[in-house]
Amino acid sequence: MQLSDKAKKLVEEKYNGLHEKRLKHVFGVAKMAEFLATKYGVDKEKALVAAYMHDYAKYDDPSEAIGKLDDKEIEECEKYPFLYHAYLSAEAYLDLLGNDMEIYNAIKYHVFGRPHMSKLEAIIMIADFTEENREYEACIDCRNILLNGEFEKAIYKSLEYTINHCKEKGEEPHPKQLLVLEEYKKKALKLSLEKIIYYNLGKVKATNIIAYDTKEKSPFYDKLIIASVDSVRQCSAIIRYLVDDLALNDYKIRSIEGKDTPWVLVDCYDIVLSIFQRDERSHYDIDKIYMDYPKKVIED
Ligand SMILES: [Fe+2]
Ligand SMILES: [Fe+2]
Repeated sequence: MQLSDKAKKLVEEKYNGLHEKRLKHVFGVAKMAEFLATKYGVDKEKALVAAYMHDYAKYDDPSEAIGKLDDKEIEECEKYPFLYHAYLSAEAYLDLLGNDMEIYNAIKYHVFGRPHMSKLEAIIMIADFTEENREYEACIDCRNILLNGEFEKAIYKSLEYTINHCKEKGEEPHPKQLLVLEEYKKKALKLSLEKIIYYNLGKVKATNIIAYDTKEKSPFYDKLIIASVDSVRQCSAIIRYLVDDLALNDYKIRSIEGKDTPWVLVDCYDIVLSIFQRDERSHYDIDKIYMDYPKKVIED
């Protein structure tokens, strides 16, 4: 029996006949978490275990925290009582199933995540908010964003909603919640930077567009996008369009090299764009250099 089957059985035994709606929610989270783990290359089994266990202590009495959580955590939970169930569910995982800290943290921080959380943690957090049984408008909105492939934006929007909801009720959001919001707002915008680049490449009819993922290998930028155009005139046109469009969207360009030449390099901090006049690209055989990098071919 796999660990995720054991986790499923545990939560079924605890909630069957007692908290049917919660059980349905947990299964919904597991379904979404499994889908997201597969999509983003995260360990599916870990995602399932965390999903099944994430609300395991939902109805436990806060007094259960004594002896299980440390003083600092108890103090935090007294101020933000919704954290009790997450922290205690993580402890239940340790007691009943295993000691994988990735799973533990994904359960523990499922309510609003934490700064610099892992992908698994982010998956459980957003699966909890967007699983198919959630019917609030904000949840449906975020689910659509998520299913549209905008992972970071879905997290950012879910946090924006919960923080606003908190404020409307006259409650203070947790300081960490605000940090995660800022972090994911930036990440969500990062996606837009990529989109702006593709949009402008499209405007000059650039072809053979390939995005190389350089995150793992370069400390300086996350992505290198290479594209081909027919003429120097097109190279210059894309620069003009990009400069305007990026400024309009509040993005900065670090440098532009090779203006009015057949090879232009635009450094937009997280993304570097290399535009070649077609012959130049094959002359330098630039794609060969990045042969081992994960890549995505962008439709012309
Ligand atoms: Fe929860
Ligand atoms: Fe939940």
